[in-house]
Parts: sequence; C-alpha cells; structure tokens
Amino acid sequence: MLELVAGALWAMLPAYVPNNAAVLAGGGEPIDGDREMGGSRLLGDGKTWRGTAVGTLVGLALAALLNVAVTPAAEAALGFSLPTFPPLAALGLALGAMLGDIGASFIKRRSGRERGASFPGLDQLDFVAGALLLALVLAPGWTLETFTLTRLAIIVVITPLLHLVTNMIGYGVGVKNEPW
Ligand code: CTP
Ligand code: MG
Repeated sequence: MLELVAGALWAMLPAYVPNNAAVLAGGGEPIDGDREMGGSRLLGDGKTWRGTAVGTLVGLALAALLNVAVTPAAEAALGFSLPTFPPLAALGLALGAMLGDIGASFIKRRSGRERGASFPGLDQLDFVAGALLLALVLAPGWTLETFTLTRLAIIVVITPLLHLVTNMIGYGVGVKNEPW
C-alpha cells in the first residue's frame, strides 16, 4: 500500500509543484496579452509568462533532484523502487501541468467564469490531464510504464485532496486569492 501510494505521488511530483510555484512567481505580462474572444478574456490575468516559465523550471529542477535522491541505498532502505525522470518525461509533466491549467482557464473564460472563479473538478484535475498527456507525447514508453492503472486510480483520488489542502494553505498564508 505504502509502495503504491508513494510511487504514484512520487511520479506526479514534477507535475504537482509547478502550479504552486506559479502562484508564488505569478505577475507580469498575461499570456493572452489582454486579448479577448467572444467578449471575455482569452485566458485572463491569472495566466502569466513568468508564472508559467518559473513553474515549468521548478518542476524540471524538482525532477532532477528526485533523480538524485533515488539511490540504490535509498531504495534498499525503503524496500521498493521509485520512478526516475528522463528529461523529456520531466518536461512533459512540468510543462504539461502548466498547459493543462492554462487550458482550463481558456474553458473557464469561454463558460463565462471570471478570473479566480471555481470550476469544481476541472480546477483539481486540469493539470493532471495536461501533465499525463504531454508526458505521453514526449516520453510515451516511460509514461505507459510509470503510470499503471493502479497508480492512475490513486492519483485521481488523492490529487484533488492534495490540491485543496495546498490551496487552502496558500490562501491562509496570503499568497493565493481564493482557497481553490
Ligand atoms: N499563475 C501565473 N501563471 C500561470 C498560473 C498561475 O502567473 N500559468 C499565478 C497567477 O498570479 C494566478 C495565481 O498563480 O492568479 C493562481 O493561479 P490560478 O488559481 O490557476 O489562477 P486564477 O487567478 O484563479 O485564474 P483562473 O480563473 O484563470 O484559474
Ligand atoms: Mg484559480
């Protein structure tokens, strides 16, 4: 059980952290350059170049760090092995998470939701879908091998909880405007 949950969360870490890094780094030029579509913003002020770039880089750096942490000694101590991240897999997870979140903002604006409005379900899983899809495109063999059906099931259940908790903390300490 621990092995399953730890493996699933470990594999997703480079996708979990970029969104939180973007919240801390956000600001500056919006990606959509103020452009509108059908009377509302294409993406909105909540999706910036800086947030996206910093989020992606932090995800990549974390993947590199996790790769270094998985030593034979560490795995022997744990009694099971953990995934490591080839460069393209790391890029797929980190950039894919950011793109999934951006895609969700696009959908939110098209459905008349203002910046910061919640969209239950989409808010919690957009970045998971983006990360898995881009990883599948950039590193198909690794992604299919790493994200077994069991791990995917664990991720789909645990991610919304983790997302909710981290965003409530972000809201609580004043770095996030809404608790979702
Ligand atoms: N952020 C950013 N760039 C991104 C994602 C997030 O700069 N690609 C920053 C923004 O400052 C944003 C904050 O992180 O306001 C919170 O992110 P999120 O909740 O995804 O954005 P919202 O402001 O809620 O906007 P939206 O309704 O489009 O999700
Ligand atoms: Mg939001």
